[in-house]
Amino acid sequence: MKAKLEAIRAEALSAIKEADTQADIENLRVKYLGKKGELTAILKMMGSLSAEERPVMGQLVNEAKQELDNLIAEKKQVLQAAAAEEKLLSETIDITLPAKSAKPGNLHPLSIVTNDMIDIFRSMGFDVVDGPEVETDHYNFECLNVPADHPARDMQDTFYLGEEVLLRTQTSAAQIRTMETRKPPIRVICPGRVFRADEVDATHSPVFHQMEGLVVDKGVTMCDLKGVLEQFAREIYGPETKVKFRPSFFPFTEPSVEVDVTCSECGGKGCRVCKGSGWIEILGAGMVHPNVLRSCGIDPEVYSGFAFGIGLDRTTTTRHKISDIRLLFENDKRFLQQF
Ligand code: DAH
Repeated sequence: MKAKLEAIRAEALSAIKEADTQADIENLRVKYLGKKGELTAILKMMGSLSAEERPVMGQLVNEAKQELDNLIAEKKQVLQAAAAEEKLLSETIDITLPAKSAKPGNLHPLSIVTNDMIDIFRSMGFDVVDGPEVETDHYNFECLNVPADHPARDMQDTFYLGEEVLLRTQTSAAQIRTMETRKPPIRVICPGRVFRADEVDATHSPVFHQMEGLVVDKGVTMCDLKGVLEQFAREIYGPETKVKFRPSFFPFTEPSVEVDVTCSECGGKGCRVCKGSGWIEILGAGMVHPNVLRSCGIDPEVYSGFAFGIGLDRTTTTRHKISDIRLLFENDKRFLQQF
């Protein structure tokens, strides 16, 4: 029995030494010290020994049991520490790596161009005013010299919200509201959203943007209008830009003009963007009609003025060479991030 105990002990010692996982060591504990373990089996055989042999053998078995118990506990600890160390190493964070940066957003191209235009007109002494998007027929048409039966209403397919109430088709309504609340000299711009029941295509949208301008003072002439708008065009499109004034018609101005600039894509040679003409129309303008001044209580014999309406979407697409107006409204981040 003693020899058997010695054999078991020697085998266990070397097995414990070689164990290299926590599972190994647990298996060894069960194998030698468990209920059906090899040492336990020897203890159970003690009954067959004589009264003298029993305490001697008992002590040997208990010593071996104690020894293996200690060694297994020790080895368990060593393996546990090693596993923890390995886990720590595998989870190491490299704090020298650059952090993921939070990208700041950027302005929409329409906002960029609108802000630039506001800066340009501010530098020429204009104030920025605001007007409501839901307007009355009175401000959007009547006071602008467009009575109910005027054919010019056909040019602006209107969203009516009721008999008298509509979504403004032009920022021009802000001219009237300004003249009702301010006394000349007046120099204002009004950027904002306008609405027309147009089909969506590459150059049309039912929601688009304009910037209205209005100057009223004593002795304002067409020269002032030309000077201000030429200065604006050169600042927004570049100093080499040429500006052309074409006679036109608007009910609220007399005389009226439409203003073209040399195409920023081809420099005036003619290309796909300007449809071969070399010119791009950017705004309508004119000398404020005496009827309009009168309807706002301003005496046309004393004061004169000019007004203009600039298409902001058109200015943005031509300035940034954007081929389709719909890109401005789709809000695709991949597009908007380029500005
Ligand atoms: N309101 C006009 C439009 O939407 C643009 C316009 C033309 C505005 C001439 C003006 C102007 O102030 O004088 O077509």
